[in-house]
Amino acid sequence: MPASKTHSVTKIGDAVDRIDGPLKVQGKATYAGDFEFEQPTLVGVYVGAVRSGGTLSHVDTTKAESQPGVKAVLTHHNAPDQRPFAEPEDAARFGQSRAVLNDTTIRYAGFPVALVIAETLEQARYAASLITHEVSSDGPDFLDDADEAQTTPESLDGGFEPDVSCGDVEHALNSAKRLDMTYRTPSQISAAMEPHTTIAYYDGDILHVHTSVQILASAVTCLANTLKMPEEKIHVQSPFVGGGFGSKLGLHNDAILACLGAIHLQQPVKVALHRRQVFHSAPHRGFSIQNIALSADNSGRINGISHHSAMPMAQDYAFAEATGAVARITYQADAIESQHRVKVVDSPMIDSCRAPGDSIGSLAFESAIDELALASETDPVAFRLKNIAPAHPVTGKPFSTHHLEACLKQGAEEFGWEKRSKSDDNNTVKRGYGVALAMRMNLIVPSEAKVVLDNNGKITVLTDMTDIGTGTYTILSQVVSDFFDMPASDITINLGDSRSPASCGSGGSFGASSSATSVRNACEKISRQLCQMMGLAQGTHTVALRDNQVVVGEGETQQSRSLAELLKDSDSQQLEAKGEVEPGESHDEYEQYSCGAHFAEVTVDTVTGEVRIKRQHGVFSAGQILNHKTATSQLQGGMVWGASYALFEDLQRDRRHGGFVNCDLAEYHFAVNRDIGDISVSFIEEPDYKACKLGSKGIGELGITGAGAAIANAVCDATGARVREFPITPDKVI
Ligand code: MOS
Repeated sequence: MPASKTHSVTKIGDAVDRIDGPLKVQGKATYAGDFEFEQPTLVGVYVGAVRSGGTLSHVDTTKAESQPGVKAVLTHHNAPDQRPFAEPEDAARFGQSRAVLNDTTIRYAGFPVALVIAETLEQARYAASLITHEVSSDGPDFLDDADEAQTTPESLDGGFEPDVSCGDVEHALNSAKRLDMTYRTPSQISAAMEPHTTIAYYDGDILHVHTSVQILASAVTCLANTLKMPEEKIHVQSPFVGGGFGSKLGLHNDAILACLGAIHLQQPVKVALHRRQVFHSAPHRGFSIQNIALSADNSGRINGISHHSAMPMAQDYAFAEATGAVARITYQADAIESQHRVKVVDSPMIDSCRAPGDSIGSLAFESAIDELALASETDPVAFRLKNIAPAHPVTGKPFSTHHLEACLKQGAEEFGWEKRSKSDDNNTVKRGYGVALAMRMNLIVPSEAKVVLDNNGKITVLTDMTDIGTGTYTILSQVVSDFFDMPASDITINLGDSRSPASCGSGGSFGASSSATSVRNACEKISRQLCQMMGLAQGTHTVALRDNQVVVGEGETQQSRSLAELLKDSDSQQLEAKGEVEPGESHDEYEQYSCGAHFAEVTVDTVTGEVRIKRQHGVFSAGQILNHKTATSQLQGGMVWGASYALFEDLQRDRRHGGFVNCDLAEYHFAVNRDIGDISVSFIEEPDYKACKLGSKGIGELGITGAGAAIANAVCDATGARVREFPITPDKVI
């Protein structure tokens, strides 16, 4: 497990290289599909339903069963018994049963109807191709018009209320220049580079599961609930995860099928989703219809904000994103109303996809705000500066820290907003500039970690936290190295094992601050134990670990003792402490948000409709930055994604069978290197100690929020074309 090669101290904030980087580039990082048990691993390939919204009326596996190498073919007739899908109802979403092959209900196109387990992938795949099945269905249902969405979701992702309002919104809207706009964002997919993969082995007592998942504790609960096993009998490991973006918050068909196969055969079984299966089996972002009404008075001050969102919701899967969150929080107005309605449809699973709510909410809302600025004949930066809300515009609660204005001003300066010029364009290629703001909630989620100090001065951190490519190994190592002023090479970080203390996992931009604070708290306990062992009063001593010495205090009062002797005196080989974190009171008293401002420069060829991104610049405020390198990378990644969903991404469902049509990385268009121009990030950095002890706030989903709208606004600036139906494909701008 990763330990740094750095023999020096790495401070919080340092732009440290990823400590797991060498393992990854050498191919030594064991992703789920790389794991090997002593027994040979069998391979499972599943057959997905041909159409959605119905009942499996027939499945014939006879031919498949007689193929060479085939060990078993599982269907709902012979698969191990499971708890029905989505039970127990009161369990959290990621802990509920994800039963497959349990009954004849076909939840969506691509839902598993049979699993072939064979000695090799080729054998399993060929045998699977011989299975025939029929689904009786009335045809899939869809959400086409906002009016069809009449159901109010019980709650929204992130804990937001479905409906919020303050003031008389109709009055406010009608008392000034009013704009009514309908924005549509399409279905999207995250398609992490590492497809969802699981290898499971049941030894008759313990179910060993290697899978690719963002949160381990709820994965154990999910398997226990699905397979009707006690949680203690389930061991999940996920030390390396090749991207998640929300699609690996919970477990999916690969995990359940591999476990069913492993239990049935008592041999290791591997199931890896191929890309088309990822598109159907792993959750996608549902599309949205956002009806937005805005008004501003003659001085360019916003009067009314109304945001009504209509979205599809998958059956038996209560998830709805808070698309209206940014409309409630960014700007001051006399009246604000935001509402979310859903229609339950037989869709492939709809769940979190990077910055649920705010990605597509900001795409529509920050475009609409730009429309309002232009209608008010006010510069889009000046318009935003004039209207930024200094406190929560609905509740009136103060922000813990809030540097939205500073982000916008610094961004405009660094980007050269005032100096932007259109003069170098030829007749057909037009140049445009756009701006958009970002507000993303900041959360602390309960998390635990254990820190073990050995008598040789080395520290091991144990937590079931994951590193989904974000840099968790590295920042946790920095937290320990910084606290004990010790070389990073003496620190080992053990993640992704369900036998370690339960963490928050990775998601919702809460992973870094929550897990890092728990590790810091454990370090503080160790330092108090060391002070006590040295007979020092408990206080605010700094405790350093250097050259096997415990060094307490600084300057003249400094004391040091050999760590080995100290431990020997107390008859122990090691010290250990568990650190925890819970959201504190300040999370009720203050609104906690990370924020940022995006700027973009594009050119648009008005003959071909081709949009070229020249520059993207983002300025972000997320408290103390834990590692400037990994933070910058994440923010840039988010900005690339924002460009991608503004211009390319559009997941299309087939109206006949209900499955996705463009479900591979060739036909699902997304931004590649050539599509991105210069991209830069800077920070307004001020620790926010109301957010957590380390002063850090979430950044994971901040970069994507607002990024697409800045591009859209730049395209409009270039061409005058205001595209309200994303993505902005060439036909829409000519
Ligand atoms: Mo995130 S979309 O909560 O992984």
